Amino acid sequence: MFAVYAESFSSDTPLDGLVVGERPDPEVPDGWTMVTVKAASLNHHDLWSLRGVGLREEALPMILGCDAAGLDEDGNEVVVHAVIPSASWTGDETFDPRRSLLSERHQGTFADKVAVPRANVVPKPASLSFEEAACLPTAWLTAYRMLFTQGGLKAGDSVLVQGAGGGVATALITLARAGGLRVWATSRDEAKRSRALEIGAHEVFESNAKLPGKVDAVMETVGRATWSHSIRALRPGGAIVISGTTSGPKLDDAELTRIFFLQLRVVGSTMGTRQELASLVQMLDATGTTPLIDRLMPMEQAADGFAAMADGDVFGKVVFTR
Ligand SMILES: NC(=O)c1ccc[n+]([C@@H]2O[C@H](COP(=O)([O-])OP(=O)(O)OC[C@H]3O[C@@H](n4cnc5c(N)ncnc54)[C@H](OP(=O)(O)O)[C@@H]3O)[C@@H](O)[C@H]2O)c1
Repeated sequence: MFAVYAESFSSDTPLDGLVVGERPDPEVPDGWTMVTVKAASLNHHDLWSLRGVGLREEALPMILGCDAAGLDEDGNEVVVHAVIPSASWTGDETFDPRRSLLSERHQGTFADKVAVPRANVVPKPASLSFEEAACLPTAWLTAYRMLFTQGGLKAGDSVLVQGAGGGVATALITLARAGGLRVWATSRDEAKRSRALEIGAHEVFESNAKLPGKVDAVMETVGRATWSHSIRALRPGGAIVISGTTSGPKLDDAELTRIFFLQLRVVGSTMGTRQELASLVQMLDATGTTPLIDRLMPMEQAADGFAAMADGDVFGKVVFTR
């Protein structure tokens, strides 16, 4: 079948190991189902994989892609849940130490077909296109859990989103606004700041600029470049929720004194559960909110999408169609 896969790793030139070609159909173990992919979306995770982060050499060649929407074996329109728990796991699968994401241990979604456990599909509502639904399983699910589960935020609370242009960040802005929060966002780029206002931010600021006040929570995916600013943006007792470190994990100053003196909470967040994906889908269906797609392209042109993400030239999600 047609597939976009990683053949080798390079930390400096990750696109060198990307192949657009043919791979065998995935195996379908007992209790799993085959989904025919109609659309799939790109995540920073796919670039990390080509850099050899989170993917073992022995697993190559590996079809990339965590996110997809398509048709299950009965022809139902479904969204694929990307977190694959170990067989005996019960409860919140994001706590399973042996879980993996599609494209880490099991073949990913950038292909004609993807095999997943039967429990890993969620009905796609008619209000979302396949392309929109394909944006949800990683970036949007991560944003949903950061805001509403790990952040515990509710209507009327205030939130700062760092690095407005990213896939997770645009989802955070849109979901926070749909959930009735007061939303501030930062970006290094003037054009991205303007677009952040269009998708729901109340106010936008240059990265690391002085803010006019404090917020209840900060959503952090940038890491080193914005950490200090995030801590300083919080009101006493506020929370920083972190799910990524795009600019690097090593901090110049972790702001430990401020963290204890202001009794701040530092909360990690990773992906989300199948139930949270179902709740996210219902939230979008009920509010009429749709994921922001930066660009749509046939899966054959996947390398162009990877290059745009590597260059930081993206606002919203890159979606591949079949
Ligand atoms: N834990 C999880 O489950 C999970 C799930 C999804 C993603 N993630 C992680 O979250 C991060 C974001 O993912 P994504 O798919 O949204 O990536 P992305 O689309 O590439 O977004 C990255 C954003 O980070 C900002 N940024 C990068 N370098 C920066 C710097 N030096 N200074 C300030 N801002 C900077 C940029 O914002 P501006 O250009 O607007 O300034 C950019 O929009 C990645 O590290 C990813 O691995 C984790």
